[in-house]
This record gives sequence, C-alpha cells and structure tokens, in this order.
Amino acid sequence: MPPAESPLRIELALGDITKERVDAIVNAANSGLRGGGGVDGAIHRAGGPEIMEECRRIGHCDPGDAVITGAGRLPARFVIHAVGPVWEGGRDDEELLLASCHERALELAREHGCRTVAFPAISTGAYGYPPELAARVALRATIEALERLPMIEKVRFVFVDENLLEIYGRALAHLKESAERSV
Ligand code: APR
Repeated sequence: MPPAESPLRIELALGDITKERVDAIVNAANSGLRGGGGVDGAIHRAGGPEIMEECRRIGHCDPGDAVITGAGRLPARFVIHAVGPVWEGGRDDEELLLASCHERALELAREHGCRTVAFPAISTGAYGYPPELAARVALRATIEALERLPMIEKVRFVFVDENLLEIYGRALAHLKESAERSV
C-alpha cells in the first residue's frame, strides 16, 4: 500500500520503523532509558549495543520529554527516545504528556539538522493509551510543531499494525477537515 500523503507534511505508512531511511526515528522509551519490548526492543536489537551505551550515559528522561542518541547500525542517523505517558484513564495529564513528547522529539530533530523524522504510535502498546485518543493527540501536536519548524520537511508515522494505520488515517483526515474549515 503506498503511504498516505498529506499536505501537512505528514505521511502514514505500514512497516518496521527500524528500517526507515529518515534522519531520525523516534523510540517509545521508558524514563529509565533501559530498553524494553515493543518498538524499544526492536530498535535496540536492530541498532546494536551503541545506542544502549549512550542511553546509559544519559540515564533518565521524564515522561513528556525526549533525548537523542546516535543510531548504531540503523539506516537512520539518530534515535530520539521519547517517553510517552502510561494510560491512567485520562486522569493523569496523559494528553499533555503525549503531546509534549512529540513536540520535544521534533525540537530535538530540528536542533540536530534533521529534515525527515519517523514516529511509532507512542504509548499505544505496553502503556495502554487508547489508539483513537492517542492518534488525535499525537497528530495534532505534530501538526502544531511543524508549523513552528519549517525546516522539517516530512514526518512519517509508521505502524506494524494495519488497524492502527486506519485509526491514525481517520484522525488525520478529521484534523485536515477541521484545518480547512478554519481557513
Ligand atoms: N515499528 C513500528 N511500530 C512498532 C514496532 C516496530 N518495529 N514494534 C512495535 N510497534 C508498535 C506497537 O504496535 C505499538 O502500537 O509501537 C507501538 C508502541 O508500543 P510499545 O512499543 O509498547 O510502546 P509504549 O506503549 O509507548 O510503551 C513503552 O514499552 O517497550 C517498552 O521500554 C518501553 O517501557 C516502555 C514501554
């Protein structure tokens, strides 16, 4: 399936994020930067031990924030480790934290001269964020950040799961319609 293009410089695609040929891929990390399962495990396995060595030196990242390392053996130049919130029923600033980890990841990308960035569906796996809600928050935060960061040419959201691709596709279409209505 060809990637779903958008005039908002956002693309949605099915695939394994570790194979993305972009300047930076974003990891769905934990605060201890200790690695884990899901996309975090896949990135460390494919990228090799250098990434974990750098993560150990950095040591910590608060939820809602992000840190950057090299990408070891991956085709990308950088890995941006973003820490999303654990879903607690929406009572614990999850929306703010999910939005801010996307913004921080894109700011770090800009600071390191990245023009292309790929994100996974942060928090929608082990952290339990309902994907319909996560999609809206992640895409809106990305659209808003891209308005402030014109040097970033393209952001790809990459999913291993077709169902997530559809959910994010619907959310993106909805946000585009609202943006068109407001101009
Ligand atoms: N490429 C793209 N997406 C992937 C890949 C991959 N190779 N592997 C998994 N995913 C998707 C999952 O399908 C899920 O939708 O990434 C999404 C995020 O799921 P998790 O990786 O579980 O991330 P998250 O929910 O943010 O939980 C973070 O999990 O692995 C641990 O160390 C990590 O403690 C942290 C927690």
